[in-house]
Amino acid sequence: MNIYQIDQNNRKSVDDFIMEHWFTMDMVVHGESVDLGVVDGLYACDDSEIVGLITYRFFKNEMEILSLDSIHEKSGIGSVLLENAIRIAKNNGCSRVMLITTNDNLSALQFYQKRGFDIIRLYHNAVEESRKIKPQIPLVGANGIPIKHEIELEMKLVN
Ligand SMILES: CC(C)(COP(=O)(O)OP(=O)(O)OC[C@H]1O[C@@H](n2cnc3c(N)ncnc32)[C@H](O)[C@@H]1OP(=O)(O)O)[C@@H](O)C(=O)NCCC(=O)NCCS
Repeated sequence: MNIYQIDQNNRKSVDDFIMEHWFTMDMVVHGESVDLGVVDGLYACDDSEIVGLITYRFFKNEMEILSLDSIHEKSGIGSVLLENAIRIAKNNGCSRVMLITTNDNLSALQFYQKRGFDIIRLYHNAVEESRKIKPQIPLVGANGIPIKHEIELEMKLVN
């Protein structure tokens, strides 16, 4: 498995991967619509097939992870992408890496907490606001849990 940074030459393949798996380029976080087609990221390739993608952006001296997806779960792809993104954050002098997930996503909460991320905030009923921008956000998510709240996780970095 090889890891590559998204650039102008591979952007089209990455966008195709996003559309194939999510059917949209837009994601809504804390009331803001973000176009994943213009943000930075890394992807994992196996025999020239994209098998995982992490996207992120920088704000002041922070990295915000916008998405992390692995198409062959539990084979190490998510961990490798996350480790590489954290390394990039450190190289850019970031003081923390943060992300927002939703209350239904128990596997993401497990994944990030086991890798050193801490839950620092809960935005109660924030997904209601996101649905005003993107009505397609389902009412019920993973494990039959209603999708209602945004949860912020962070990893503080020591440079
Ligand atoms: C969350 C997500 C990105 C994790 O990706 P992943 O590729 O499955 O992650 P990994 O394989 O690195 O790790 C997952 C588990 O598999 C285990 N694993 C890794 N390689 C393994 C192997 N060869 N054999 C058995 N288990 C293995 C890891 O130890 C880990 O378990 P742990 O969390 O209990 O330590 C993935 O489940 C996903 O795409 N979810 C949907 C989208 C999402 O929710 N994204 C996060 C919100 S931003």
